[in-house]
Amino acid sequence: MGLSRRSFLTTPAALTATALLPTGLLSALAAETPAPPDLSDWDKVRAQFVLDPAYLHFASFFIASHPAPVREAIEGYRRAIDANPFLVVERGLFEEDEHNVPLQVQTEIAAYLGGRAEDVCLTPNTTTGLALVYHGLPLKPGEEVLCTTHDHYSHHESIRLATERAGASMRMIPLFAEAASASTDSLIATLLAGIGPKTRVVGLTWVHSASGIRLPIREISAALRARSGAPVLLVVDGVHGLGCTDETVATMGADYFCAGTHKWMFAPRGTGLVWASADNWARLRPLVPSFSDLDQYTAWEQRSPLTSPNNANRMSPGGFVAYDHQWATAAAFRMHQQMGKERVAARIRSLNDQCKAGLAENKRVKIHTPKSGDLSAGLVCFEVDGFKPADVVKQLLARNIIASTSPYAITYARLAPSLMNTPEQVEQAVRAVREVSG
Ligand SMILES: Cc1ncc(COP(=O)(O)O)c(C=O)c1O
Repeated sequence: MGLSRRSFLTTPAALTATALLPTGLLSALAAETPAPPDLSDWDKVRAQFVLDPAYLHFASFFIASHPAPVREAIEGYRRAIDANPFLVVERGLFEEDEHNVPLQVQTEIAAYLGGRAEDVCLTPNTTTGLALVYHGLPLKPGEEVLCTTHDHYSHHESIRLATERAGASMRMIPLFAEAASASTDSLIATLLAGIGPKTRVVGLTWVHSASGIRLPIREISAALRARSGAPVLLVVDGVHGLGCTDETVATMGADYFCAGTHKWMFAPRGTGLVWASADNWARLRPLVPSFSDLDQYTAWEQRSPLTSPNNANRMSPGGFVAYDHQWATAAAFRMHQQMGKERVAARIRSLNDQCKAGLAENKRVKIHTPKSGDLSAGLVCFEVDGFKPADVVKQLLARNIIASTSPYAITYARLAPSLMNTPEQVEQAVRAVREVSG
């Protein structure tokens, strides 16, 4: 349920003014937004982006280039807000369910995740989602959060800051020595062996931006639930799996799933989500006042205790945000639904398989990403004998190929074949690595 009563942060004068707006904002915008494009083949999908054609883009997972449907949605909201900032934002936020824009965004996201709109918390990025979840957990002194040595800075620091504040502790374990030779069984066995008597929460990363490994979260979650001992909650940083794999996130087994939507999902820059079940939302304590939970506002207004269970909307950080971007998130999820999760995942898998097979023929290249598409997704991490990863990336850039290095203590070069690329481009990138390696 969105915030459906205008008593929230509004005034009687505002009510009168808003009532002067004609029909709902959503239908007005829908009327002036172009019909969804034809996305029936990959050239048509690639044509939605305005990427610089002088380069081959193999780092587009870093931050999204907005595709046409997203640019048009942003532009529609921007025009409306610029023309009528108060009326449009006030109406969009606090209108009845049918016209409530954040609720429409949550509904589109929920359809993609396979869950309920009311369980989707809107955030500005992965980092904020992780910080909100870890700080929201009722951690006590003596309890521990277990994570892995492979997680991202944002994940480790969210845990460190939250556990320090709660007097709890944090411990990291490696899940593998070499990602490329890990298996589902070895990952599960290592994780289970790492859980100690104080562990109450396990933090994992779905697709690692360090090595490209994709953890089998479904199987890991089942193993965590089947073990004896105190139950543990599973927090997943899912940013590099969402939008490039064929998964139903809401049934995958994560207790808290945090992701930015401004990478593989192509949603506007500065958007993200956390998904959890109602029971798991109820365990958390919010950190930032929400602008989308009526109970919280009413309790404040009436100086009465807030008694209803915590929920996704109450966890969504309040204060005004870039609404033209947040609201246009729905267009990105619609675009992914139109392309089809299975089709997107198969295309990305085939480009990544091709990239790995091509690089594997080069004796001077060591690939760190598992060969199997079941244990990887859209990233190929590798080293070239005798070259620093940053120098490989520089040399590729000199050939107009945009690659990246992984931002970790141990760093690799990365190529990320995505919907931006064609098999011919992958071949060009593999050939360029061959030239660089000598
Ligand atoms: C695994 C992982 N987690 C979190 C982040 C941070 O994402 P965001 O910018 O959405 O906070 C990144 C950045 O690329 C990442 O690779």
